[in-house]
Amino acid sequence: MSLAPVTIAGTGSYLPEKVLTNADLETIVDTTDEWITSRTGIKARRIAAEGQSTSDLATEAAKKALAQANIAAEDLDLIIVATITPDTLTPATACYVQDNLEARKAVAFDISAACSGFLYAMEMARNLIGAGSFQNALIIGAEKLSAFTNWEDRNTCVLFGDGAGAAVLRKSEEGEGRILAMEIGTDGAQTGILNIPGGGSACPITIDNANDKLASLSMLGKEVFRHAVTRMKTAATKVVEEAGLESKDIAQVIPHQANLRIIDAIADRLTIDNDKVFVNLHKYGNTSAAAVAIALDEAAREGKFKRGENIVCVVFGAGLTWAAAAIEW
Ligand code: COA
Repeated sequence: MSLAPVTIAGTGSYLPEKVLTNADLETIVDTTDEWITSRTGIKARRIAAEGQSTSDLATEAAKKALAQANIAAEDLDLIIVATITPDTLTPATACYVQDNLEARKAVAFDISAACSGFLYAMEMARNLIGAGSFQNALIIGAEKLSAFTNWEDRNTCVLFGDGAGAAVLRKSEEGEGRILAMEIGTDGAQTGILNIPGGGSACPITIDNANDKLASLSMLGKEVFRHAVTRMKTAATKVVEEAGLESKDIAQVIPHQANLRIIDAIADRLTIDNDKVFVNLHKYGNTSAAAVAIALDEAAREGKFKRGENIVCVVFGAGLTWAAAAIEW
């Protein structure tokens, strides 16, 4: 079945006000600004206010995307929130967002694909709109990772931050840009190298294990790094080829914002100049599903690419999961 082309009609992002710098972290765990900067490129991250949940961050990003797309919340018929830090295990964070926006007509649900979630949501929405099942979709990547961070573990707490990014998708009209190609993938044999081990049915939090900080991110950094470079490079190459593009046709690459060394390795392997690769991780750290969504919105608003130009988004996360999109803006 051939699918109708789908365009990104608007984007938005929201970052909480509170800034946690590397200098602040030096007072919390045994680390240094020099170590964090040289290993990751991260200088600061944002932390949600007390009482501010993932759906609150998501709602703020969504309002901006809807305004830019010039689509009213009541005209949405689909909302997908990608998150690994939901407000509650059930109902889905998307349901709170639907209520906040008063988007009463919209079917709303979450997906859990870690840092790849926003592009997984894009692929789902693209297919559902393209097939004619839905018309106006809101996809959001939103995380309050600070609530699932072990603030005594220097291996992980320096890496992550809170934030949200959103996009409105609808059918592409004559002369508008469109999503050209997408690739998503999973390797369930690698669940152990990056996860939140506790708090689910496999390991509920009990009085006996409450002090073990099991409901926080756990990671084998070097393993994750190795897989990230390989999977992102392969996924990005596939969508570029499928879209019929060459490196010279790409105005901007929007990679997952986890580590500057991973981003540099991807740029190198794709033979893309560094000035065509968008980076904002020094400000926000790794915001998982929100990262590529925030980066896409910031890059677009900063004029890094124009309507009609081609961009490539590429991500990687726990699961393992990966995804890439080639988009004519
Ligand atoms: N400050 C100071 N030292 C730290 C530290 C910190 N915040 N975190 C870890 N260390 C120490 C470790 O304890 C270890 O010490 P040891 O050798 O005495 O045991 C040492 O630094 C590890 O250093 P190294 O092996 O050189 O780290 P690295 O180059 O692999 O960098 C990461 C670590 C986590 C930055 C890197 O592996 C990485 O970015 N991996 C991918 C992570 C990622 O992207 N995750 C999200 C995917 S979506």
